Amino acid sequence: MQIIEVRLASHSYTIHVGHGLLQQAGELLRRQGLGGMAVIITDSKVGALYGRNLLEGLSVGGIKASVIEIAPGEEQKTLESAGRLYNRLTDLHAERATPILALGGGVIGDLAGFVAATYMRGVPLVQVPTTLLAQGDSSIGGKVAVNHGNLKNRVGTFYHPSLTISDVATLKTLSRRELSDGMAEIIKHGMVLDYHFFAFLEKNIQKVLSLDPAILEDVISQSVRIKADTVEQDEFDLGVRNILNYGHTIGHAIESVSGLTVWHGEAVAMGMIIEARIANKLNMLSKDNISRLKMLISRAGLPIKPPHLDIERLIGAMQHDKKVTEGKLRFALPKATGAATIVDDVSLSIIRQVLSDDEET
Ligand SMILES: NC(=O)c1ccc[n+]([C@@H]2O[C@H](COP(=O)([O-])OP(=O)(O)OC[C@H]3O[C@@H](n4cnc5c(N)ncnc54)[C@H](O)[C@@H]3O)[C@@H](O)[C@H]2O)c1
Ligand SMILES: [Zn+2]
Repeated sequence: MQIIEVRLASHSYTIHVGHGLLQQAGELLRRQGLGGMAVIITDSKVGALYGRNLLEGLSVGGIKASVIEIAPGEEQKTLESAGRLYNRLTDLHAERATPILALGGGVIGDLAGFVAATYMRGVPLVQVPTTLLAQGDSSIGGKVAVNHGNLKNRVGTFYHPSLTISDVATLKTLSRRELSDGMAEIIKHGMVLDYHFFAFLEKNIQKVLSLDPAILEDVISQSVRIKADTVEQDEFDLGVRNILNYGHTIGHAIESVSGLTVWHGEAVAMGMIIEARIANKLNMLSKDNISRLKMLISRAGLPIKPPHLDIERLIGAMQHDKKVTEGKLRFALPKATGAATIVDDVSLSIIRQVLSDDEET
């Protein structure tokens, strides 16, 4: 087991990454001073796979828990679901000291996190992420939210857990596509912030995809450490943390224009390659660095070339997503493998040029 400490202005907490940690959940909660009754919020798929495991792990530590299951899927990330969860918590007599355990992927982490942040003005939250995306990225950083109307994450806040338990054994039931999807943000952490981690991924990507427990533990804890360092410096995403938007300006546009047939990690992977080419056009990044990135993304089982999407619709989606000042867009761009910077004034004409340069994509 690896333990990562996250030190925030408001409080500090630990992230535990290891194989078989659900069984130790009760003990880990107790050590954190959490106990009494707990409530697990999960989706029906994850609940069926791991609900019992977690309940047993909690009971070993003397903690009784109730389980609330919702249907799986992004459609559940709404205020209506949050409302239903508040009702269930009230029925269960959940109180201010009752920890909520968010057992599942990023959807459950965001929704149950939002509920924990707001029910009775905030109850202790324990993140128990079960997808690679959630373990390596979304469960760190305190962003909790629900979607509103058609707008993703429109209503939310910052709320950090009191404890995170990442059991890498849960990843064995993910599909290959889900595993690869989760690798995108992990690769991003290496590309923008840590050359050694990027090189480590190049060496071990096969072992990650074949679920080697020791490598998984290593990759997730390094990814978490890198993101946590940035979050510690910029808890509210007002400065250096913007670097983590790399791949997302183009990525979000691809995701939305594809009608969500392209998943988030896949879109970010393609977004990273296109944005690396923008950096190259601006003479910031060498072609060798792009080739290396493309190779790793491809070996992770992620797409390197977007489906055929209308360039003007992509540009339209970007303008909708981000503030455009006088035809210029803001990007986080790599300047080498393992380093990046914010560039405020990327012109739409360069973006158009790179998007239409099909040869190189
Ligand atoms: N808060 C953040 O900083 C942040 C960052 C990135 C993404 N997100 C959010 O994360 C969400 C996407 O998360 P996700 O990709 O984990 O999707 P998800 O939570 O929808 O999980 C994907 C699917 O996998 C299933 N599943 C989960 N764990 C499993 C397991 N161990 N075995 C088998 N099946 C399992 C789920 O039931 C679901 O059907 C989006 O809503 C996105 O907005 C949040
Ligand atoms: Zn993302």
